[in-house]
Amino acid sequence: MPPYRILPSLLAADFGHLADEICRARDAGADALHLDIMDAHFVPNLSFGPAVVALAKKVAPDFHRNVHLMLCEPDRYVEAFAKAGADTLQIHVEACCEIRATLQSIRAHGMRAGLVLNPRTAPEAAMPFLEEGLADEVLYMSVYPGFGGQKFMPVPLEGIRTLRSRYPDLSIMIDGGINRETLLLAAAAGADAFVAGSALFACPDMAADIAAWRASLAALSAS
Ligand code: DX5
Ligand code: ZN
Repeated sequence: MPPYRILPSLLAADFGHLADEICRARDAGADALHLDIMDAHFVPNLSFGPAVVALAKKVAPDFHRNVHLMLCEPDRYVEAFAKAGADTLQIHVEACCEIRATLQSIRAHGMRAGLVLNPRTAPEAAMPFLEEGLADEVLYMSVYPGFGGQKFMPVPLEGIRTLRSRYPDLSIMIDGGINRETLLLAAAAGADAFVAGSALFACPDMAADIAAWRASLAALSAS
């Protein structure tokens, strides 16, 4: 299984101080920054676009930018996010585009390609692409995408177990309602990467929380 990764989601940051918030996540020892891109069609909300990815690249060039596209037609924006500095680009399997060609295009633009599944989407939806080696990671949603601060849904845990047993080396990320408790449920099911917005950005000392999360994960894998 890949090493554990913790990714703060910028959606929960103080937008009045975005550059400082990006540096706060990096300096707290996070593995990467998660950026949520919403188009008000695929999800019922709007967030931000490539300009914020470019800001993250400018203020923290070495801090990996993991970009989660909640867009109806993500294929139309691959180039824009590559130019902005995305390192990983994640697309939903439920999006209205040719998934195989879009994953290939993401890699052709020099980025890692991720495939996202909604909470009740069966893991089998990702398998054809994984069998062909077209995706570098899978993100399973543990809330319906669109908003931060929602309650964790355990429904994807079964799908994570299925993917982990079939693909021992695959990076499986989880996103939505992750906190110090739900983190361990997800890790026990086989997730190795954890996106957390409200739980981490609300912390006055994010570094202490990330260190505590890592200690709990280490204790779980030792047990
Ligand atoms: C939801 C986003 C998440 C969100 C997570 O659509 O994909 O990344 O920011 O926020 P929390 O951790 O608050 O559930
Ligand atoms: Zn996300």
